[in-house]
This record gives sequence, structure tokens and C-alpha cells, in this order.
Amino acid sequence: MCGIVGYIGYQQAQDLLIAGLQRLEYRGYDSAGVAIVAEDGLRVRKQKGKVRELAEAVGEASLVGTLGIGHTRWATHGFPSDDNAHPHLNAAGDFALVHNGIIENYAALRERLQQKGYRFRSQTDTEALVHLIDDVRKATGLPLEEAVRQALTQVVGTYGLAIVSAEDPDLLIAARNGSPLILGVGEGEYFIGSDAAPLVEHTRQVVYLNDGEMVVVRRGGYEVKTTDNVRLTKEIHQLEWDLGEIEKGGYEHFMLKEIMEQPTSLEDCMRGRISVENDTIKLGGLIEVLDQLRTARRIIIAACGTSWHAALVGEYMIEELARIPVEVEYASEFRYRNPIIGEGDVLMVISQSGETADTLAAVREARRRGVLVLGVVNTVGSTIARETDAGVYLHAGPEIGVASTKAFTAQVTVLAMIALKLAEGRTLSDAEHREALRALAAIPEQVRQVLTLDDQLRQMAQVYRYASNFLYLGRGYNFPVALEGALKLKEISYIHAEGYPAAEMKHGPIALIDQFMPVVVLALKDNTYDKIVSNIEEVAARQGSVIALTDEGNGALDDLCEYVIRIPTTAAFLSPLLSVIPLQLLSYHIAVMRGCHVDQPRNLAKSVTVE
Ligand code: G6P
Repeated sequence: MCGIVGYIGYQQAQDLLIAGLQRLEYRGYDSAGVAIVAEDGLRVRKQKGKVRELAEAVGEASLVGTLGIGHTRWATHGFPSDDNAHPHLNAAGDFALVHNGIIENYAALRERLQQKGYRFRSQTDTEALVHLIDDVRKATGLPLEEAVRQALTQVVGTYGLAIVSAEDPDLLIAARNGSPLILGVGEGEYFIGSDAAPLVEHTRQVVYLNDGEMVVVRRGGYEVKTTDNVRLTKEIHQLEWDLGEIEKGGYEHFMLKEIMEQPTSLEDCMRGRISVENDTIKLGGLIEVLDQLRTARRIIIAACGTSWHAALVGEYMIEELARIPVEVEYASEFRYRNPIIGEGDVLMVISQSGETADTLAAVREARRRGVLVLGVVNTVGSTIARETDAGVYLHAGPEIGVASTKAFTAQVTVLAMIALKLAEGRTLSDAEHREALRALAAIPEQVRQVLTLDDQLRQMAQVYRYASNFLYLGRGYNFPVALEGALKLKEISYIHAEGYPAAEMKHGPIALIDQFMPVVVLALKDNTYDKIVSNIEEVAARQGSVIALTDEGNGALDDLCEYVIRIPTTAAFLSPLLSVIPLQLLSYHIAVMRGCHVDQPRNLAKSVTVE
């Protein structure tokens, strides 16, 4: 949440910072601002609204300077407004700070500082930190970087922050505790980003800051130390991102691009890992821990949002194919309820960004208790990827659209590979394993076929765009898909939608069904098909409008349903990879037709780095 960008070098900072903020806008988009160190002091522009509006304001002002910081905000403390937008300045206006995270002891700090005469101009927690730094600097007479370090030792909470000062035009300070921050290393220039998106077009060399670390950057070099003042030598990593991957490539929205990319993102996810000829699956990141995983007493999967839905599919897969008990937890619940985990348990976390605060906290809690922790993560080098014992990358490429699509299918694909690997030579016969692997290898091509339904789904969206509620029903492997379909719709179109296990409908949601309630039913020809047809009958009998999703060649539902979407047949455990795609497209088209901002839905952010 909240995007941070910083630059120090020889280029004009203004355009570079704005471009960086535009690339980071998926992290927050209620207000934005920049501070540039100009010859005559700090130049600051900040305002409520999108980065585009800030760009227009800044463009007119034309800020000159080769050092600066920028921020795009997702409000936590204080509503979106010009005053609450970052950067925040000290009273004298000689340094500026941008912050992502939450200063938990801000109220106590604020009171103390107010008593000392500090006047607050915003409702943010961040401003308390600015005045605290100012206070430490005045009281000690220390240089800014040292005052920042000492102030941070008094802070409780999370931060990724960047600071520039009018008094030192060759100084950029950044620090991290709980909110991601990356240093981009160029030639005579350096970049700060809360993720890699604003850096890729400038440099591939990055240093990942860890919690409790700060970096003092000058044009001639940088120094990383802990906030306890221990100097560190950090490894420089090579970014794998490609610029084209973070651009829209001709599509109107990132979300549509990412939906359409799924055949290739799934090929990339499986590349080098499955071999149909040899009937093998190789997951390099798990080799060392495979025995421990196979003999696990229990696997707990923790995740949030769409990743949690993928985890549910994983539970069904691993239990059915490998016969290992699996429990799925919301990461936010897991960490606070003193979970019973111990010897023989394995925690697996799933996260697209690798930065979700609650998921990261679950990782740390399990590690503290000595449990093996595995990560299924998309973003290479992210905090969760670095802090887990082992894991599997999705290799789905960067996902920019706030509503997750290609990450979900890649997560399910990785979980399918893990389930099959665990089942290999144990719970599946060679023939069953081979057949399952063939089915998995065929998925990208089948996804391509499903994507050709786009026109049909756009037409359906015309009909359903005015609905106020939607119900999604599924059973077995497609129950999590019902949840994901409902989540996609509510996230981007603001239509209220609920996903339910189809049989549970009779225990409540059926009361809501009338002619105004569209019901999407995942009716694939697996072992629950007959039951789900009965559920469709029950909805139809109450005049609900049923949209059924079923297998190619199945005409049996045509008379019962308003619309029938037909997708290719695959093995039951892989069906979520195909069935979710029409639901992604339906949500996308409805949201576009309702005039919603698909890539930046209100109140949401791509990466939830605060609790
Ligand atoms: C946010 C995003 C979702 C995502 C969830 C978990 O809510 O908007 O798309 O599923 O966070 O994020 P993660 O990066 O951990 O998968």
C-alpha cells in the first residue's frame, strides 16, 4: 500500500518521479505528491486525486532539481485530502518525508510533540514522525541522517520511508520496517521504490532493504546500516522484470491484458518443471524439503484475498491426490489466534506480491515456532520469498491490475504441481500420474480456447450490468472458484456478490432468490454434477436467472438456464483453471460497462502492506 519513489542523480527528477508514481499507482491512488530539492529550497506539490492530476499540476510548475521523492497514497490515518497527501514537511520546511505503513504510537508522539509546541497540519500518523525527527535533530544538533536513525528507534509500527532535505542537495535517506523498499543502483544515480515497477526502466541492479535497515544515498555512493547503527554490506540482485511486462501492450486495461496473457503465463509457470515425455515434475525450490513435506503431519496454507481462494483449491488437490491433511487459514486470523503448530506441521503461504503484511506475519510466527515455512510467491526477491525456508515462484510475470487474475491461475497451477509431486509414487499409480500430468500440460491450450468466449461474455455483461446482487455457486473444486468469481465482481464493479458452496444455498441465500437475482452456477461434469443440476432447478423454480458454466457438448442445461457457457473438459482437479476465466471476463466487462475504474478500483490496493 502507498507507493514510494525517490531519485538522486544527474537527470531532472520531476518527470522521473511522476513516471515512477504512475507505475506504482496500483499501490494506492487517493492522493499523490512530490518534493524536489531545488536550488532555492524544497519544491513540493501534493494533492488529492490521481497521479495524472498531479502530473498536470507539476507540469505547469516545472520543478527543477535532480533529487526528489514522490508518493501515491492509500489512506490509513486521515481521509484523502491535499493536507493529508505526502510528502510531509517539518515546520521550517527544510526536509520532506514520504511514508508507507502505520506509526502505531503516533498518538502518544503527537501529544508529546504538541506539548513541545509542534503544530500539526494533517491528520496523518506520518506527520508525528516528521516532527519527531525535527525534534531529535534540534535537541542533539546531529546531521539529518543520524537524527532520522535515532528517531526511528522511538517509533512503534511499520514504515517504508524516504527523506530529502533542502540543506543537503546530495542526500537521500530511506528506511524500512515492515513496508517494502528497494534501492535501484545506477551509474551516478540511485533510485528508491516501494517495489521494482518504477526502477525497471532505469536499472536492473537492486538492493533489497530488510526490516530495521536504512540507506543513506549520495551521488557518489550509498551506505546501508541498521537502525541500531551497524554498517552492512548488501548483495546486489539482478531484476528479472521486463519493461514490456509492466506496460499495457495495446490493451485498454492491465486487467484485460493479464486475463488474456494466461495461456503464456501458465506455460511460463510450467516451463522446465513438467515433462510429459518423462512423466516427471521438477520443482527445484522444493527438492531439499520434499521428504519433510511428504511426511508432514499436516500442511497449513495461509493467504489473503484471491491467494486464499487458490489455497482452498490447493487443499482439495493435496488432500485428494496426495492424501496429506491440509488446513487453509486466513493469514490475518492465523497470526492472532495462537495457532497450534508444531513438529510435523508445514506452513505454506501463498502471495502474489510477497509483501502482504498479514501473510508475512504468519511466516514469521511459524518460523518463530520452528516450523518449516514454504512460499508460493510471484514477485521474485519479495520479502516473503526471502523469509521462507523454501518455495516455488509462479513465474507469471508482474501483475499490475489490482484485481488478481493471472496470479490466481498460476497459483493453482503451482499447487497442482506440488500435489502431483507429493502423490508421485505414493498415492497415485504411474498411469494416473501420467494422465494427470498430460491434463496439466494441456491446460494453456484449453485456456486459449476459453478466452475465445470473450464476445459471448461481453454480450452477457450487457444484460447483467444493472444487477444489484449476484450469487455464485459451486461444489468441490469449483466452490473456491465461486468465491473467486464473486470477489472479482464486487472488487471491480461494486455489485454485491456472494460465493457459496451450492448445497449451502438452501441454508440461507435461497431466501434472496427472485427474478432480479442472477445466479452463476459452476456445473461441470464431475462427481457433483447431478447434485448441482438439482440446485439449478431450485433456483429456476424461484425465477432466479441462472448462468451455468458447464462442459463442452453438454446441452442438458439449455432449457433450465438463461445462459450456458461451455468450456473444454479437463480433469476435475484442474477445472478451476478453466472455469475461473469466464468469470474474470464477465466481471471485467460488467465493470467497464458500469464505467468503473477497472485497474484501480475504489478503496483497494494491489499490495496490502498494512494490517
Ligand atoms: C489485495 C489484492 C488482491 C490479493 C490480496 C492478497 O487484496 O487486491 O488481489 O489477492 O491482496 O495479496 P497477495 O499479494 O498476498 O497475493
